[in-house]
Amino acid sequence: MGFAIAIDGPAAAGKGTISKAVAAHFGFAHLDTGLLYRAVGAKVLTGVDPIEAARALVAEDLDNASLRSAEVAEAASRVAVIGEVRAALVDFQRAFARRAGGAVLDGRDIGTVICPDAQAKLFVTASAEVRAARRLAELLARGDATSFEAVLADVQARDARDASRAQAPMVAAEDAVLIDTSSMSIEAAVAAAITAVEEART
Ligand code: CDP
Repeated sequence: MGFAIAIDGPAAAGKGTISKAVAAHFGFAHLDTGLLYRAVGAKVLTGVDPIEAARALVAEDLDNASLRSAEVAEAASRVAVIGEVRAALVDFQRAFARRAGGAVLDGRDIGTVICPDAQAKLFVTASAEVRAARRLAELLARGDATSFEAVLADVQARDARDASRAQAPMVAAEDAVLIDTSSMSIEAAVAAAITAVEEART
């Protein structure tokens, strides 16, 4: 049987970096489920219906650098409240989680809805200010012109929408290990995540 690791948390908490490092450490496959919602959001920005976009999603749609923009992140969180959009993406995520070689999935509802039976669950968080500063650095490195205030407002609006939606709201699973990375280096956060997974494996 495969081993599934669920890593959830709010925007720009470091889930992506931690998930990649955890997957590399254990030799597991990694799925950034935010990319699924971002790909649907990007299609909606071009005028496609969100439910149709989610149902027609193919792997190549995830391979697009423009999915990392702030505009697409906002569109992703708007389509993510639609139950039919979420439903269209469930089977793909669950099949990924069951891979024989082990899987790491990161998102908002992995430990609660997609993989409630995941063998290890982490909820990675940090203060909104720390998360905004990290996301600002990423966006500036991509060449996107923005400010700390604009990024902080985006992150807070998205968190509020993600946490308050009726379908699969962002919430830590009861059995998730909480990792607050506000004052941790990325190396320390990765080490804490690996330790938590190792404890779940024993
Ligand atoms: O990278 P960041 O943490 O900013 O966002 P992301 O993980 O790429 O997710 C973008 C948006 O997709 C989130 O704000 C959520 O609205 C939505 N999402 C979701 O609803 N469920 C997931 N499992 C993953 C993402």
